[in-house]
Amino acid sequence: MTESHWERTSSRGEELIIDTFSLADYEAVARLWDEGGPGVSRRPTDGFEGVRLKLSRDPDLFLVARLGTAVVGVVIGGFDGWRAYVYHLAIAPAYRRRGIASALMDELEARLRAKGALKAKCQIMVGNDVSLAFFRQRGYEIEDFTVPAGKWLTDWRPEELQDETQTTGSD
Ligand SMILES: CC(C)(COP(=O)(O)OP(=O)(O)OC[C@H]1O[C@@H](n2cnc3c(N)ncnc32)[C@H](O)[C@@H]1OP(=O)(O)O)[C@@H](O)C(=O)NCCC(=O)NCCS
Repeated sequence: MTESHWERTSSRGEELIIDTFSLADYEAVARLWDEGGPGVSRRPTDGFEGVRLKLSRDPDLFLVARLGTAVVGVVIGGFDGWRAYVYHLAIAPAYRRRGIASALMDELEARLRAKGALKAKCQIMVGNDVSLAFFRQRGYEIEDFTVPAGKWLTDWRPEELQDETQTTGSD
């Protein structure tokens, strides 16, 4: 079996566990998103109730990375039976570049394949070069023949759309 990035870089015998998210993880996961910088912003969908609603669909695609009792990484997958999406990938700043995002994505892609998904997509904020480098080295290709478009089905508007000068999407 090929040694994973995590196994190569973890010198302290720590066991990295990729696990399904549970609501008890919410505060830790929200912190990871808050620490994620401009690449991950918390929107109305990401509050406790929004996350609970997500668990009504494909809860097994909402993954966390655990080291001991700490939650050090998170990713949300979605599959509607047709398209597969990857959302809100974030790793605790102190644990980046050790293969944790790779381990989360390996597991998420395996679970998506098992459900029959043929392709996974994600949205990367303009200027998030680290995320771009991460997804590119996993084989994700930039598809600039489409433009992301979205409509909030509530009155809430993201700050960057309030002056209607920008139209980029968020993951
Ligand atoms: C993007 C992010 C999830 C990557 O997590 P990570 O655990 O550090 O990634 P990995 O260690 O698995 O990296 C795997 C490979 O991705 C690429 N990569 C990761 N971080 C990189 C960086 N800062 N610069 C260049 N390449 C990078 C490298 O090829 C790396 O392999 P290597 O370390 O052997 O060179 C993490 O930086 C993060 O949480 N960023 C803030 C939130 C965010 O932007 N999320 C993405 C939303 S779309």
